[in-house]
Amino acid sequence: MANNNFFDRGFDDKTSIKLGLYESYLFEFLGVWIASSVRERAPKEIDIYDFFAGPGVDSDGVPGSPMVAYEVIGKFAERLSVTGQKVRLWLSDIDEKRVASLKALFSNKAEWPANTSIEIHQMDFRDALNANRGRLGKVPALIFADQFGVKFITPDIFRKLVALKATDLIFFITSWTLNRFADHDNIKKYHEGIGEHLKDAKAEHIHRKVKDYYQSLVPAGHQYHLAPFSLKKGPNVHGIIFGTSHIAGMRKFLNVAWKIDSDRGEADFDIDDDRLIDDTHQMDMLGDDRRPKKVEMFQEELKEAIISGRLGSDKAVHEFSIYAGFLPVKHAKPVVDQLRKEGVLEIDGGGVRLSDACCKEPRRFILTAP
Ligand SMILES: C[S@@+](CC[C@H](N)C(=O)[O-])C[C@H]1O[C@@H](n2cnc3c(N)ncnc32)[C@H](O)[C@@H]1O
Repeated sequence: MANNNFFDRGFDDKTSIKLGLYESYLFEFLGVWIASSVRERAPKEIDIYDFFAGPGVDSDGVPGSPMVAYEVIGKFAERLSVTGQKVRLWLSDIDEKRVASLKALFSNKAEWPANTSIEIHQMDFRDALNANRGRLGKVPALIFADQFGVKFITPDIFRKLVALKATDLIFFITSWTLNRFADHDNIKKYHEGIGEHLKDAKAEHIHRKVKDYYQSLVPAGHQYHLAPFSLKKGPNVHGIIFGTSHIAGMRKFLNVAWKIDSDRGEADFDIDDDRLIDDTHQMDMLGDDRRPKKVEMFQEELKEAIISGRLGSDKAVHEFSIYAGFLPVKHAKPVVDQLRKEGVLEIDGGGVRLSDACCKEPRRFILTAP
């Protein structure tokens, strides 16, 4: 099988980006749930699930997701020993040798961060989900599902994961295969109807479309949002999809994604064919001040939505930005500021507040021009 030497080859730079996203989001996630002091309302337990864990490190000893998680938890060890909260890291994989490697890697319990337990199992993904059904949705959790291919996060499983309370999801999917083989029985067996979502899509946008496909599977009325991050390997685009039911979770993920891709916040390549010049010096000399199309289009749409009265408060703008995949302060605030400068807009109660603390008491927008 082509995937057999995934770990022997050593992780490539795409895998490193994927793991970097996981690492940074996990850090943010634990930062939310692990309190900095003893607090009544902080959860007593927090779970991290890595259902396709692999051996823990690649053949050169570079950390895979299990070791990445272990190291991130280590950064919270001091806080954990103060608050007494417990973190449980669940690592499972179907492969006997990889599980043996995990067990060897984490055999010394004395080294584990304070209040942390590590559970390691040789288990099929579905069995592992089943084995945890008593805790899933009851204990705040992050699920990392780093599957090979496309066949494990089926519509059925996805809907179950989406229904879990306080559970964020990061999964990997080889989106290009869904496109190329949409009509094959082997794909249809798992993703009936996916072809409809992908038809006419440019190869570069396939992973975005796969995200839309999963978003369409979220039951109506259920507040659950997804964000894609596309990775290009040769001509093929695959990537990760992040899911959460909480706006703060989405904001944190976007912060991480925009750090990796400062132009569009969603890919490791020029996904919209913007052909921006990387070098700022060269950009000045050529008078090239183009912005990514995606940002321009968002800002136009936002302006229109404010002027038409559709977005009538800072809270509404904040939500609109986050769920469109943009950072409120970086991308939306300049639009609001400009409208105020032009005398089109006033804000009831002072300035616009779009930062993380936004917006317990929303400030109403007042349109001042006809
Ligand atoms: C992409 S690798 C995971 C890499 C890992 N996250 C890391 O960072 O090192 C996918 C893993 O899924 C495992 N796997 C394949 N089929 C599985 C199944 N049905 N249930 C659980 N694990 C499975 C493979 O053994 C492999 O280790």
